[in-house]
Formats: sequence, structure tokens, C-alpha cells
Amino acid sequence: MAPEHLVWSRFVQGTQTLYRSRRLRFDDRFAGQYRPLMDLDSGRRLRILEVGCGPGALAGALHRWYPQAAITGLDRDHAFIKFAKKQAPGITFVEGDATALPFPDGSFDVCISNTVSEHIAPEAFFGEQWRVLAPGGLCLLLSSRKGIVHRAECLTYSKAEADFWARAAHQDDTLERYAIAKYPMNEQELPQVMAAHGFTDIKTGFVTLNLCPDHPGYPAAFARDIINAGRHSELDAITAVEHSQQGRFPQEELAKMRCLANQRYDRRIALYEGGEQQWDTTVALIMVVRGTKS
Ligand SMILES: C[S@@+](CC[C@H](N)C(=O)[O-])C[C@H]1O[C@@H](n2cnc3c(N)ncnc32)[C@H](O)[C@@H]1O
Repeated sequence: MAPEHLVWSRFVQGTQTLYRSRRLRFDDRFAGQYRPLMDLDSGRRLRILEVGCGPGALAGALHRWYPQAAITGLDRDHAFIKFAKKQAPGITFVEGDATALPFPDGSFDVCISNTVSEHIAPEAFFGEQWRVLAPGGLCLLLSSRKGIVHRAECLTYSKAEADFWARAAHQDDTLERYAIAKYPMNEQELPQVMAAHGFTDIKTGFVTLNLCPDHPGYPAAFARDIINAGRHSELDAITAVEHSQQGRFPQEELAKMRCLANQRYDRRIALYEGGEQQWDTTVALIMVVRGTKS
């Protein structure tokens, strides 16, 4: 077993995967959807804790959207916290465990998390946030729901890649080994579980994001970021296979997989630059649940 403080970044999702996808998810163009659901008092110097902050993209967005707030991000993964500290000055990042938060009782006005609740036992996850929240404090839970992914034809795996991923999946026990997504909850269960842990005045809302490079309203830099987020997620996934199935795939094959992935994404960028629209898109659906410690 790998040490806990490196599990996520080495075996599950790499730093680039999380940072780039969340930079898109929490881009300022979507703030107008998030902010009414979060419903935070932007005039107050709120003490906000992000639990399981990963490489820090949401914490960075909160820092832009609530410049008065004092923001702390906490994650167990050493690589994420190291990256976040460099990326986002003005925010405090702490390496620590969400099931034993290293903060005194009542020390935050808001606890927030994005796609973390499904990985941690609810008693500890909500119990610890309840403990560190001040009376009247808010628990905000963001959770990714099933969206729509429509890939460009030029991004379809070649036969060699399809074969590689089939072999890699065959021996992959990462999810069971590290108890990833051990506590999934549907749209009804999430608010109920928060209520069961003492939160009141629970409200639920949804944010929808259309991540389509060819969207006529998106500038070129954002379109390229969408395409390259996919590229880095694939490259990180190859590295995760290298780490988790050490020695099983020769270095030459891994290098070839990286090369083929880059070629496909280079092609997608070239089509974009040439104005040949593909209309590939990811429509993401983010559930936002808000409860109060009354
Ligand atoms: C799906 S990732 C989401 C990361 C980040 N919220 C984001 O959206 O980019 C789940 C995160 O939870 C963290 N995590 C899982 N269990 C944890 C625990 N017990 N304490 C602290 N962090 C934990 C992982 O290290 C990982 O960064």
C-alpha cells in the first residue's frame, strides 16, 4: 500500500487532471450560477474552509469571488497541497485529514467541498465539519452528477490504445484498494444525510456547464483550455497506470501511449485553429447542497 499522503495524486487523479478540469468548472464565467446557490455574505470577512481541496482550483475561485474572505484549503495529499501553495497565494493550504480536522471547534463560518463526500464515511465527514463550524455556520457540498460527454471523432482511441486500456482496466484494483467512491449518494440521499447530521434549512440547486470548445461565446484561450484539460487527464491516467501496475507495461509502450494521446489532442487543436468545428462537448452537472448549523 502507498502512503496515504500520496495516494490520490499517484493512483487516482493527477495534479494536472484535477487542477485543469476544476479551473474550467470554476471559471469566472460560471460564477453567476454558483454564487446565488452558495448565498454567502460577500461583505463579511468569512472564514471559509475547503475540505479535500485537491490542487486548489475551487479555493482560488472562492478567493476571487469573495475577496474579503479568509480561505483555508485542506487535503491529505502532499503533492496537491505543494502545488496549491505555489498556484494560489493569499490562501492558506494545510496538509491534513478531513476525518480529524486540525482546527478548534467553531473556527469557521463556512465549510465547502467539491466531489469529496463520496470518499469519506459520512459520520466523520459531516461530523468534523459540524464541529469546526461556528453556530450559524454553513456547510456547502458540491457534487458532480452524471452529465453528457460527446467526444470528437479525432479523439477516438486507436486500436493500440483501446487494447492498452482494456489490459490496464483488467488488473486495476485502485478503487477497492484505496476505498475510492465507497460512499456514493444520490440526489435524494445527499440532503437527507446532511439533515441526519444536524444541518437545517437545507437547500439544493444545480449548476450546468457546457464545456464545448466550439461554443461561439468562448474565447480561443478557454477553448484550448477545454481541449488541453482532456489531454492532461489522459496523460495523467497513463502515469497512474504506470504507478499502480508497476513493471507490467514496458516503458516503450507507455511512451507510445503518451505519444498517441498527444497526437490526437494536437489534431483536435489543429481542427479548432483551422475553424473546423467538431461540436464535442462535456455538459457537466454540479449539485450544490447548502445546510446551516443552527
Ligand atoms: C475527487 S478529489 C477532489 C479534489 C478537489 N476537491 C477538486 O475538486 O479538485 C477528492 C479529494 O479528496 C481528498 N481526500 C480524500 N480523503 C481525504 C481525507 N480523509 N482527508 C483529506 N482529504 C481527503 C483527496 O486527496 C482528493 O484531493
